[in-house]
Amino acid sequence: MPGFHRLTREERGQVLAEWLQADAADVFGPLQQGGLSLDTAERLAENVVGIHALPFAVAPNFIIDGRETLVPMVIEEPSVVAAAANGARIARAGGGFSVRVDDPVMICQIQLFADDVEEARGRILRSEEELLSSAASADPILADLGGGPVDLEVRIVPPDGDDPAFVVVHLHVNVLDAMGANAVNTMGEFLAPRLEELTGGRAGLRILSNLADRRLVDATTGIPLEALAMEDYEARRVRDGIVAASRFAERDPYRAATHNKGIMNGVDAVVLATGNDWRAVEAGAHAWAARNGVYRPLCTWQKGDDGRLIGRLQMPMAVGVVGGTTQIHPNARLALRIMGATSARDLARVAAAAGMANNLAALRALATEGIQRGHMRLHGRSRELG
Ligand code: MEV
Repeated sequence: MPGFHRLTREERGQVLAEWLQADAADVFGPLQQGGLSLDTAERLAENVVGIHALPFAVAPNFIIDGRETLVPMVIEEPSVVAAAANGARIARAGGGFSVRVDDPVMICQIQLFADDVEEARGRILRSEEELLSSAASADPILADLGGGPVDLEVRIVPPDGDDPAFVVVHLHVNVLDAMGANAVNTMGEFLAPRLEELTGGRAGLRILSNLADRRLVDATTGIPLEALAMEDYEARRVRDGIVAASRFAERDPYRAATHNKGIMNGVDAVVLATGNDWRAVEAGAHAWAARNGVYRPLCTWQKGDDGRLIGRLQMPMAVGVVGGTTQIHPNARLALRIMGATSARDLARVAAAAGMANNLAALRALATEGIQRGHMRLHGRSRELG
């Protein structure tokens, strides 16, 4: 959609309606009012006194796994949507983004205090099958749909000073198209008494882990050198600058934090547009980034053998298309429709591609003219709009 940003708001609405093969007034009337009624808002939070609105935008130019995709983004920061569209435009020269998505497996943690933690671990592992089918019975609908518990892991957290060791049971649950917090928390609470009985121990916390490292996205892109050229910078200089910027983030956590913030600009905007829990995705992203004890970038860039710029992003992506706000908020449903996502996997793909596109655009600007030229132009506009 070349020139999409130069259209008027009405024209953009018209283009989107055509994209959705829908009537513009039906689709965009509610959207332009914020989408959420006060009555619906009362279903989402307590003590509601009003509605807080944010811009709902779309970023064009994305090809994700070979499919032209429009990416809805909810964001308050100027230049994020422009950066996403820009990054996607550059990546499409190499065929866009390819994203591998894990099965939607969430982890529920059940903490257990036992006198003999090794003995407790043995007992739990010997009863694995019984425990898995017991947990499955806590959510028969999920089981009927083909999801439910798939594995069980027992970890021992070692003693720390006067604090004794304890056991943590990890129940791995395929939550299908949900984010899954409710399903796994229910199972954890259901299973805890049986674990106490089995081990003679006492259950502590029973809650999902936001370090959703069984539910990763792994996105890649390979950009031909010539697509990287800029007006005042030749392609080789831009590519090498992006690779050097990636190395900076790989070697310095202070830079990695900002590098990852740029990725989360894209990821969060998609997660928010679809009514998903962006705090959960944020927590997972940063815990994953620090998994080896040093905070690292979620996305890195290298020079390929053929001179291409190769990017790779890996991070947990716990998002769903059913349950909670995703279904209650009319704009969230519209956002899923715009991006053509019918499964949690589809949505995870789009969020990952948006994160990568934002990272690419930010590094390209930072490695050349700097971020302020484009940024201030857009900030200026938001000031003018007052
Ligand atoms: C600003 O929102 C994001 C950037 O700081 C990201 C980065 O530095 O890579 C531009």
